[in-house]
Amino acid sequence: MTMPGTQSRNQVDTNWHSETRLSPLVDDEVHIWLANLELEIYALPKFLRNLSLAERSRAQRLRFDHDRRRYVIAKGLLRRLLGDYLEMEPNEVQFTAGPSGKPGLSERLQNEHGVLHFNQAHSGHLGIYAFCRNRRVGVDIEEVRPFPDMDQIASLLFSTQEMAVFQSLSTKERQRAFFSAWTHKEAFVKALGKGLTLPLNHFEMSRAHGSLSRIVQNHDHSAKSLEWFVKDIPVSTQFSAAVCVEGEGWQLRCLKW
Ligand SMILES: CC(C)(COP(=O)(O)OP(=O)(O)OC[C@H]1O[C@@H](n2cnc3c(N)ncnc32)[C@H](O)[C@@H]1OP(=O)(O)O)[C@@H](O)C(=O)NCCC(=O)NCCS
Repeated sequence: MTMPGTQSRNQVDTNWHSETRLSPLVDDEVHIWLANLELEIYALPKFLRNLSLAERSRAQRLRFDHDRRRYVIAKGLLRRLLGDYLEMEPNEVQFTAGPSGKPGLSERLQNEHGVLHFNQAHSGHLGIYAFCRNRRVGVDIEEVRPFPDMDQIASLLFSTQEMAVFQSLSTKERQRAFFSAWTHKEAFVKALGKGLTLPLNHFEMSRAHGSLSRIVQNHDHSAKSLEWFVKDIPVSTQFSAAVCVEGEGWQLRCLKW
């Protein structure tokens, strides 16, 4: 239920658009790309060409064919999309890593081509990517699957208050709620760049903002003064996915590769 006066100013269009040409990414727009990482074998060389030498040799070292294929497509597509947004060759995109390993654009590229925030996640055969010019973003996807020790893991995911709500749900509702909270919260810690170094039960989400969740409480001082909103990305009944974006006033566009 939306509480009066609490509707967020973010505009979210979660209809999927299939595009062959990349539309420009303007300030305050968030592009989500969803891709099948199990493409036909003939598509591989195209993605392999996008990789750096180090990434190619990492791909070669992967033991299983399906891991190699997914790695090449996931990384090759990230470079292709970044290359298009930045108007440069995919294999010339240079990365840097934050203190907890979040990939970002190298400082030189940011100076030459402008800031572009991005994040990616993969689960099963799907890869998901988020891009935004002027706001930090985090994205997560998980295959919804049976989780034998879900109730124990839930205590690492939910705050005390959230745990009480979770325990009041039926067994069937719990699985969906578990994966939904997992992806929402992981999208937040990935947007911050901290990953799981920030425990997921150290903050809560409020659902009183239309279709968006707001991160309402956290013990992380660097994030305290900022507002973060999380949106569920409807992929399919088998997957739960979410994007987290800094602040209000952004528009979301969902694209399928
Ligand atoms: C980020 C993290 C939550 C990813 O979890 P996951 O469920 O295994 O993987 P996902 O599919 O959701 O995301 C993977 C992608 O997240 C991105 N990523 C890695 N570290 C990240 C971070 N700190 N913040 C945001 N994104 C990160 C990468 O692009 C990665 O893609 P890659 O595997 O192709 O390189 C987890 O790896 C983590 O907590 N990392 C930080 C702590 C850590 O272990 N640091 C060690 C390196 S310093």
